[in-house]
Amino acid sequence: MLNVAIKAARAAGAIINRAALDVESVRVSTKQTNDFVTEIDQAAEESIIETLLTAYPDHGIHAEESGVQSGRGRDKDFVWIIDPLDGTTNFIHGFPTYCVSIALAVRGKVEQAVVYDPNRNDLFYATKGRGAFMNERRIRVSKRTMMRDALISTGFPFRPGDELLPYLAMLGEVTARCAGVRRPGAAALDLAYVAAGFCDGFFEKGLSPWDVAAGSLLVTEAGGLIGNFTGEADFMDQSECLAGNPRIYGQLVNVLGKYSKFASAEAKADAIAMAKQIKDASA
Ligand code: IPD
Ligand code: CA
Ligand code: CA
Repeated sequence: MLNVAIKAARAAGAIINRAALDVESVRVSTKQTNDFVTEIDQAAEESIIETLLTAYPDHGIHAEESGVQSGRGRDKDFVWIIDPLDGTTNFIHGFPTYCVSIALAVRGKVEQAVVYDPNRNDLFYATKGRGAFMNERRIRVSKRTMMRDALISTGFPFRPGDELLPYLAMLGEVTARCAGVRRPGAAALDLAYVAAGFCDGFFEKGLSPWDVAAGSLLVTEAGGLIGNFTGEADFMDQSECLAGNPRIYGQLVNVLGKYSKFASAEAKADAIAMAKQIKDASA
């Protein structure tokens, strides 16, 4: 199954690379303000679904651009979760950080994962219980234990309705404690980089299952932890994602837990006070 997912990801990557040669001529539509889809997202997704359903006609599909389909068959236990082009805004601008993300969930648990970066030809993959790999080399999360040494990646709010002030408070708290923060712009690749130890932790709100499904297995198979901001493992549909090596993950939960929608009323009050400080400072 992993091999079929890899074949699908590489074929989608070839479509994306070809289009990147003349990105100006790619047709772009707007789903909502600042949320874009291109004809290449759609072409890559169609190609991935075709490859997967040719091999497994009964499997289900949960893909960003075409939604949930029961495939051509009825098998509800096997569902492919697909982001055909993660980092569309980067792609549109020619900013070379984007990827293809494909995961297979079996009875709701991710068992196969592929994240493919067509710019660097980097292939990240994992099968549950068998470790995580990058280009055939086993990868592990970093060994850093102190937040002050950690490099943390994140995603900024960008859609109307995304809450900017609480995010700025989170960013402020994390920035003050760590060695550096990065916003590369493709969540699936951010998680792959945590798995490979290139980043020590990651946090973002507002993500969807297709952004995080494959990356989550890469992280756990590389020895890391992933969950929501309060440290619960059941995060996939909760639109808040925190990942890291185990030591940094724990420290990020301590800092970010109060910003979780699952935080206690008392913790939430602290978070609101932090956001108010930011608001007052910028007034
Ligand atoms: C986006 C990217 C981005 C993240 C957004 C996602 P898309 O995915 O992963 O890094 O900040 O929340 O929606 O729309 O380019 O597939
Ligand atoms: Ca995405
Ligand atoms: Ca996408």
